[in-house]
Amino acid sequence: LFLGESVTFTCNMTAGYDSNWSYVFHRNGQHIVSKSDVSKFLQLDLTTDLSGRYQCSAYHKDSPGFIKQSNNITLSVAVSNQANVALQHDWSQIYSGEAISMSCEIKGGGNSKWEYEWRTTTSKPPSRERTVHIRASVFSSGDFWCRGRADPFSSTEWSQTCHLRVSDKPRPTVRADKRLIPVGGNVTLTCSVDNPTEWKYYWFRHTGNISEVQTVDEGKSENVISISQGGVYYCQGGRGSPVFFTEESHRITIEKRVSNMASVSLRPDWPVIYSGETITVRCEISGGRNNEWVYEWSKPISDTLPTNEYRIVDASESSSGNYRCLGRNKQDLYSSTEWSDITTVTVSAAPTPVLTVSPSWLSPGASVTLSCEVEHPSAGWRFYWYKAVPDFREHSVQIRWSYSLINDSFNNNRNSAASLTVSPEGQKQTAGFTCRAGRGNPKYFTDYSEPKFVWSAVSHPAASLSVSPDREQHFTSESVTLNCGGNSTEWRVMTPSRIYAWSSLYSYSEKVNGFTTEMIAYRPSTAVYWCESESEGCSNAVNITIHDGDLILVSPVHPVNEGDPVTLGCELRTGNFTSTVGFYKNDKLIQNTVRGELSIPAASASDEGFYRCEHSGKASPQSWVAVKASSSSLPESLIIGLVVGFLLTVLLVIV
Ligand SMILES: *[C@@H]1O[C@H](CO)[C@@H](O)[C@H](O)[C@H]1NC(C)=O
Repeated sequence: LFLGESVTFTCNMTAGYDSNWSYVFHRNGQHIVSKSDVSKFLQLDLTTDLSGRYQCSAYHKDSPGFIKQSNNITLSVAVSNQANVALQHDWSQIYSGEAISMSCEIKGGGNSKWEYEWRTTTSKPPSRERTVHIRASVFSSGDFWCRGRADPFSSTEWSQTCHLRVSDKPRPTVRADKRLIPVGGNVTLTCSVDNPTEWKYYWFRHTGNISEVQTVDEGKSENVISISQGGVYYCQGGRGSPVFFTEESHRITIEKRVSNMASVSLRPDWPVIYSGETITVRCEISGGRNNEWVYEWSKPISDTLPTNEYRIVDASESSSGNYRCLGRNKQDLYSSTEWSDITTVTVSAAPTPVLTVSPSWLSPGASVTLSCEVEHPSAGWRFYWYKAVPDFREHSVQIRWSYSLINDSFNNNRNSAASLTVSPEGQKQTAGFTCRAGRGNPKYFTDYSEPKFVWSAVSHPAASLSVSPDREQHFTSESVTLNCGGNSTEWRVMTPSRIYAWSSLYSYSEKVNGFTTEMIAYRPSTAVYWCESESEGCSNAVNITIHDGDLILVSPVHPVNEGDPVTLGCELRTGNFTSTVGFYKNDKLIQNTVRGELSIPAASASDEGFYRCEHSGKASPQSWVAVKASSSSLPESLIIGLVVGFLLTVLLVIV
């Protein structure tokens, strides 16, 4: 038997004898004194010194000399050979920081008092306990052996080698079947660590706006969970008692889609805006309340805002772009709507309106229409109309203008339209106009258009432009004098080509002498001229044609009064006419003459038109001959004639 086991010897008499016997046991012939001396049983807990030859004797109680001897039994008490190092858990890998126990197990060691000896390759030999507790670390890696010692002279063999390998704390990995929880759906997360069945799994989540981490699942042996909430997730494995945790896994962010829809709208609703304008971009979310969300914008804003409005103030090129937004739940920032559809905002350079005037000349009974045009006319523009007056004080290349608002175009909707009608009754004189457009709140204005003129042949009370020689057509290199006729040096001769290049009249040489301008033109042109003063306004306007050919028409510069005689002439640059001169009105030959003159005894409205003359295959330019209705409906001579006739009749009656 092995050391530490117990054994019972029984002393039996052969059948046939009565029961009046007492028993004594012997080892190696020595009497064993036992408590139950007379009992037929001897029980022993085995120690090595109990090996030997056992025998029992039976004495008859009535005749003590009567003894019977038993057979011999040899008992040898053996010490076990087999010590073994056992780990508390059959884990395939031990990790740094884990608490483990190692026991020295002796087969058949029973309850006897063993003393344990340990041997190790590590630097720290365990204490002489049967079970040793170790806090695993890299230093615990090594080989271990143990043996048991029963007394100074007997011990087991050394156990087989127990290899203890400690590695660094593991870090699980998390995988998700998808990163986005669809509306009404869920996502499966898997936590992976080596030897998965040895662990329990712990799940954690945080939501970003609350720093606190929530425990989602604790100590499940399944390493998979299904989630329906967005957030940042991570897991840990745990085992043993007290629980040893792995490192935390890396974080995985799971977004959640809500069914609400985001959309971007503009206020005001202008897809094209201009540099400097102010516009509000709004993110609208269907369903739910406004204060439930934080709003995220993609480029060009790239920002998260607590309110749904983004104001583009003083827009510039960089404000152009495709605006998109989404809403995130304030309570759970990982729950969001889809990105809205794109709303494109284009920021353009401020437009300059273009003003057109039709017709350009005022004539009785016909009104003039001015139109102000801006790109994207539908986009909320209102138009403002101004009279443009040149500012001659600054002698810059370009004329500066001062603008005076035409009454009420600010307050009156009718006058803020894109066109303005000028009636000849309301506007008698030549005048410059300009327009600009405005919209929004605060009001944003475009630049002023280039000024445009409505010309009138009617003279200004203070100034009247006269031309010398007094005809509409002139030869190049001939001197033409334009006289403003007023009594102030403030008057300037104006012509459209001068408006934007005041000082350089490269095609002219001119002498400005007070209010008289003498010019010699070297290039052919047809232009309108008038005089203008900052304070007095404009004189009448005249057409002047400069011709580089040999033949010109001699026609009046000013409109002729109805009923007055008019003579049109034809003039050669040099020499005399050698054949007939033809006069044409509106491209139709009306007269052939040798004298080179066409006489109209009394001008009427029907004489108005374009005239030219032709001589030996050469033609003059054509000029407009205007006929002006006289101020009263009856011709003056007729009134005088009637009055004189009446007086003569009275006189005759008296006589
Ligand atoms: C000047 O010429 C234009 C056409 O070219 C004509 O309509 C206008 O009446 C002319 N003005 C005068 C004062 O003749």
